[in-house]
Amino acid sequence: MADKMKQKILVTGGIGYIGSHTVVDLIENGFEVISVDNGINSDFSVLEGIYSITGKKVLNYPLDLCDPDTCKTIFSEHKDIAGIIHFAALKAVGESVQKPALYFKNNLLSLIHVLEYAVMHKVGAFIFSSSCTVYGEPDHMPVNEDTPLREAESPYGRTKQMGEQIVKDILAHTNVKSTLLRYFNPAGAHPSAYIGESPLNTAQNLVPVITETAIGKRDKMRVFGNDYPTRDGSCIRDYIHVCDLAHAHTLALEYILSGRQHTSCEVFNLGIGQGLTVLEVIQAFEKVTGRHLNYEIGPRRPGDVMAIYSDYKKAAEVLNWKPKYGVDDIMHTAWEWEKRRSAGV
Ligand code: UD1
Repeated sequence: MADKMKQKILVTGGIGYIGSHTVVDLIENGFEVISVDNGINSDFSVLEGIYSITGKKVLNYPLDLCDPDTCKTIFSEHKDIAGIIHFAALKAVGESVQKPALYFKNNLLSLIHVLEYAVMHKVGAFIFSSSCTVYGEPDHMPVNEDTPLREAESPYGRTKQMGEQIVKDILAHTNVKSTLLRYFNPAGAHPSAYIGESPLNTAQNLVPVITETAIGKRDKMRVFGNDYPTRDGSCIRDYIHVCDLAHAHTLALEYILSGRQHTSCEVFNLGIGQGLTVLEVIQAFEKVTGRHLNYEIGPRRPGDVMAIYSDYKKAAEVLNWKPKYGVDDIMHTAWEWEKRRSAGV
């Protein structure tokens, strides 16, 4: 395999939540990374967090990928990009229902621009950030990569389904190999607590809502429904630590760049194969931190599926990927990160 030190990877959305953890993992595995992120939903101070962990100053282009000139600028300055990991996208399910045109324009136009340049510059590998939302409400659990896709519940979900198709179609008859990574529920933070999830807008996802409530940024939180036909009535999800998720990107990239991927496109589920209810997640938080969480039971949230968790056998067998962290680690690292960011350190 070519010397990895010479392999330059473009990460779009490199200062976002999953993007920043992936940048760290790539650097730790010997890649050189450049990023493009306009800071629409993340803070540029993340670059300092990455530096504190890795000792590397990552070059970030604070540009919008919907502008066709953005890729032109980056590729004219970097002729040697070996792979692209494309995270840059809007991801708030509720907002996508209010502003569907914004979601289709932002998430799809930027993707098409990046793909065109990947083809033009003969980039070896393209990794696309997809989601288990493409499965909709599945009939059988766990969900593997052959589980049929269902109508997505939101415009956000549709941008992921369409995005997958766009990647396959644009790269089909080219030498650019691709991977579609379907994330289950990413949560937790880097164990150093230098980087984590810090949405600029109000947090919507369960784990940051829990930590924000515990630290007092919110008076209380709501469990969205306790009348589902599950073991305690609340929804079931598969929570995966963001560092495990990040490492899967490095492995998927190495799989292509080392010539082991013979197909044009591969799909992998990334979860830990364990379904937890919302109430079990809350109990895990209380156990790990010793804090009491102020929560109440509220109505169901429109668009939520009752239960989904993964079969990740394919990622384990093909990529040799194994999740290292469980829900207790997720809670511990998310809490350490919340304390640090709330203290403004
Ligand atoms: C959703 C998307 C997923 C997307 C992710 C990114 C779907 C089906 N899933 O995940 O594709 O990548 O958002 O934002 O569209 N909950 C509460 N109270 C809260 C917040 C959440 O009870 O205050 C519950 C939810 O009802 C759900 C679970 O916690 O059962 C997880 O919710 P969340 O973290 O928002 O993720 P998803 O909706 O599963």
